[in-house]
Amino acid sequence: MERALQWIVVVAICASSTLIRAAGIAETPHRKLSNVDYSDVISIDCGVKEGYIDLLTRIQYQDDDIEFGEIHTISNNSFETQPQINKQLTSLRSFQEGKRNCYSLKPKQGKNKRYIVRGYFAYGNYDNKSMPPTFDLYIDVTVFTFIRFSVASNTRRVEAIYTSLTDTIDFCLVNIEQGVPFISLLELWPLGSASVYQDLYMDDEYGRSWLARALTRNEKEMNTVLGIDLDTLNDPYKLPTEVLNTAVSALRLSDSVNIWRNYTDKSFEYKVYLHFFDFEERVDSSEKRIMNVLINGFGEGVQDINVTENVSLSYKKLLTLQLTVEQGMGINNIFIKATPDSHLPAMLNAYEIYRLIPQSVSPTHQDDVDAIKRIKDIYKISRMKWQGDPCGPTGFTWDGLTCNARNPPRIISLNLSSSKLSGNIDVSFSNLANLEILDLSNNQLVGEVPEFLAKLSQLKILNLSRNSLTGPIPDALIAKSKNNSLQLRFAHSTLSYNFVTRLINKGLNPFLSLS
Ligand SMILES: *[C@@H]1O[C@H](CO)[C@@H](O)[C@H](O)[C@H]1NC(C)=O
Ligand SMILES: *[C@@H]1O[C@H](CO)[C@@H](O)[C@H](O)[C@H]1NC(C)=O
Ligand SMILES: *[C@@H]1O[C@H](CO)[C@@H](O)[C@H](O)[C@H]1NC(C)=O
Ligand SMILES: *[C@@H]1O[C@H](CO)[C@@H](O)[C@H](O)[C@H]1NC(C)=O
Ligand SMILES: *[C@@H]1O[C@H](CO)[C@@H](O)[C@H](O)[C@H]1NC(C)=O
Ligand SMILES: *[C@@H]1O[C@H](CO)[C@@H](O)[C@H](O)[C@H]1NC(C)=O
Ligand SMILES: *[C@@H]1O[C@H](CO)[C@@H](O)[C@H](O)[C@H]1NC(C)=O
Ligand SMILES: *[C@@H]1O[C@H](CO)[C@@H](O)[C@H](O)[C@H]1NC(C)=O
Repeated sequence: MERALQWIVVVAICASSTLIRAAGIAETPHRKLSNVDYSDVISIDCGVKEGYIDLLTRIQYQDDDIEFGEIHTISNNSFETQPQINKQLTSLRSFQEGKRNCYSLKPKQGKNKRYIVRGYFAYGNYDNKSMPPTFDLYIDVTVFTFIRFSVASNTRRVEAIYTSLTDTIDFCLVNIEQGVPFISLLELWPLGSASVYQDLYMDDEYGRSWLARALTRNEKEMNTVLGIDLDTLNDPYKLPTEVLNTAVSALRLSDSVNIWRNYTDKSFEYKVYLHFFDFEERVDSSEKRIMNVLINGFGEGVQDINVTENVSLSYKKLLTLQLTVEQGMGINNIFIKATPDSHLPAMLNAYEIYRLIPQSVSPTHQDDVDAIKRIKDIYKISRMKWQGDPCGPTGFTWDGLTCNARNPPRIISLNLSSSKLSGNIDVSFSNLANLEILDLSNNQLVGEVPEFLAKLSQLKILNLSRNSLTGPIPDALIAKSKNNSLQLRFAHSTLSYNFVTRLINKGLNPFLSLS
């Protein structure tokens, strides 16, 4: 299976500061939603008991109907920087128990599609300890970031663009023994299929939040009131109007627009998107705006300078510059500066920076995921560890399971001994195609020993002891056991008279292991 690269948004910034709302906060998320078809969006308001439609945004929120964790509400529900999701941030779910707790998202589009997965975390001192936790976040089997609060009252948001290799996306919170993990809001937006959204004229099609940025000394604000027809722009990045019609410009030709960042982790590759939409009316149509873009131009310990020369903007034409910052470089600053040929100073509308995360571990084979989840459902198995991907990553394999190291991994043994299973042996067991060991002993299973178990070509050990199964044992299984390829165990079973008779008739002793 292909190993996909997953991207995590480091930052998405609208270059102009006109969107600043809260005083004293340089970067304020701005999120305006309407006219968007949300039917493919999954929004989970963690910690609420019932789903609802938000009156402000018309978004349908689901409750987080999951097995584990505790729900809490925050008394002080004033999140000035997140007015649109104020309501959603007042409840949360915390996970006192278990190392990994997961939300399983099942988007309609299924696997091999790209999604934006987004989580919000508002601590709000819900536990009265004034000690926000630090914990890891995984998407499926890939650890993608951690949550840490520098200020307890802050809201943390993480966002990742994720190509799902399986039909469900597991969003997992992992306890690293630095407090109890929790989550306030979880969202999934499908990406890249423009036809899902109709008649979109404004706002952010992908639900991105654009942070506003404070001006630096040599910058000024630019904005336009001209209507922008997003239809004719044909913008694959789907920038909202607010992002397009505001910008920053350098004060003078000799000044530059400076972005300072502190991405010192050089083990990652970064993608930088610089969005330009030059709406400034020209007095003289021959006036040009030509710029050079320097990544890591100056600054401590930064040697690499990556220059993109002569970026020329045309009036009311959208231009997005996609720049790669290779591993080993990090990002310290990005300078945008007019060239000597330019008549107009440098400008910028918005930028986005992503960190690329290699997905080094594969999630479990889809067939096995489907089968084991069905088994979990049918027998109502509730175990702390039975969350997220069944096999991975290392250290998180579900208890009672072993998996091989293939890519993708397969389940090779399943031990559900003494697990209070009742009812028939479900056909799902036979879908675990690589199963070598199946131990269902000491349960309350009834019905016949099903023929389909013989479909498991790798099966070496089958233990059905201590159940209330009835015979006959299918010939296919008998053949396998006579052949020495399968060890059958029925010892101490409560076998029906018929079953025992059939075994004896076949020359087999039901109270011993058969081989
Ligand atoms: C509630 O939040 C507001 C605004 O963030 C803050 O000024 C106030 O001190 C908070 N009150 C309590 C009791 O934490
Ligand atoms: C926190 O303190 C408030 C006010 O004293 C109380 O109502 C609430 O139940 C406490 N919450 C927890 C989780 O202890
Ligand atoms: C940049 O980040 C590193 C590591 O995260 C930190 O040690 C350093 O103080 C930061 N520098 C600035 C200027 O913020
Ligand atoms: C950029 O423009 C200058 C001036 O016209 C020219 O000398 C230089 O070669 C150009 N650089 C590139 C990479 O095209
Ligand atoms: C510099 O930027 C270009 C264009 O994005 C990219 O192809 C190249 O790999 C970058 N170099 C480094 C060292 O990051
Ligand atoms: C299954 O688990 C039980 C109890 O944990 C253990 O006694 C038994 O040996 C296991 N079965 C196999 C096949 O390893
Ligand atoms: C079931 O049978 C296997 C194979 O003989 C054995 O290793 C295992 O311990 C048995 N399980 C129990 C719970 O007796
Ligand atoms: C019996 O074992 C042989 C060799 O191990 C194998 O080729 C054959 O398919 C087995 N027959 C059955 C019914 O499992």
